This record gives sequence, C-alpha cells and structure tokens, in this order.
Amino acid sequence: MASKVRINVNGLVHNVSATADTPLLYVMRDELQLMGPMFGCGLAQCGACAVMLDGQEIRSCVTPVAAVAGKRVTTLEGLPARWANTKNITLGKGMLHPVQQAWIDEQVPQCSYCQSGMMIQATALLETVRKPTEVQIRQAMNGHLCRCGTHLRIIAAIKRAAVAMTA
Ligand code: FES
Ligand code: FES
Repeated sequence: MASKVRINVNGLVHNVSATADTPLLYVMRDELQLMGPMFGCGLAQCGACAVMLDGQEIRSCVTPVAAVAGKRVTTLEGLPARWANTKNITLGKGMLHPVQQAWIDEQVPQCSYCQSGMMIQATALLETVRKPTEVQIRQAMNGHLCRCGTHLRIIAAIKRAAVAMTA
C-alpha cells in the first residue's frame, strides 16, 4: 500500500506517494520528472540508473525509495548545485559541474544512454580521489557499461575534470 515517503533529492525535500519497496529510479523519473537517471537493466548491472547517496554511487533501480529517507540523493541534474555548494559559490544560470563540462569538452557521449550514470560515478570518484591514476579511473568505472564504446573519451574527461576540480 502506498504511503508518504520523505526524500531529499538535489537539495529539495519531496513527500512522495509510493510503496516502501518502489525503486528510487521509478520515483525520480515518474514523480519528480528527473530524467537523468535511466532504466537500463533493472538489475544493478549496467550503471545507467546511478545516483549519489550521501556521496556514494548507488544503483537506483534496485534501491527501495524507503531506504533513502533521511539521506541526500544527487542526480545528474543536481551536479551543478553540488559543485557550487562544495566551492561555496553562487549557482549561476547555465553553470555546470566540472565533470559535465569535461564531458562536453571531450565530446564523450554517443547515444548518451549510459552517460548520466558515468558522470555520477566519475563525480563520486573525484570527490574521494582528487587525482586518480588511470588504473584507479578504470577500476572505478568498471561497473558501468557503454555499448557505444565511449570508454576512452570517458577516461580523458575524468582526467580533465580532475585538473579543473583541483585548480
Ligand atoms: S538500470 Fe540500474 S544498474 Fe542497470
Ligand atoms: S554512449 Fe551509448 S551506451 Fe554509452
């Protein structure tokens, strides 16, 4: 039976109506209209649905919405504000997180289906390892699949973002 669940997504508190075991992904896309996280496998295998939960990457397709109550969820849409908060600067119109900007500069996406999850994972990595080696980048991104084969541009973009974030 549906009940009200209070969740914090991208700094905004929402009281959503859902059963406790409804996947967070469904709530974000269907109720909050956040289309960054994508449905890929639905089995925690591809990473398309990835979001950050208190700074850790999680798979929202297998995360019950009740499990994120009282925690902070960040989606692709929330990355600019997350960066602004980190740097204690005002969020300007059109401002992007350095990871998002690096994705543009390196022209990473092809079909883009996997890219939201990729940028979430990259951000989680760069928040914990400021200057990751290529081996660390490959290890961190290992659980994220891209059928278009953009992996080399992803690595280049993460290296670029690491420089921007430590400048
Ligand atoms: S859709 Fe969640 S990991 Fe594939
Ligand atoms: S860009 Fe198409 S699946 Fe990754």
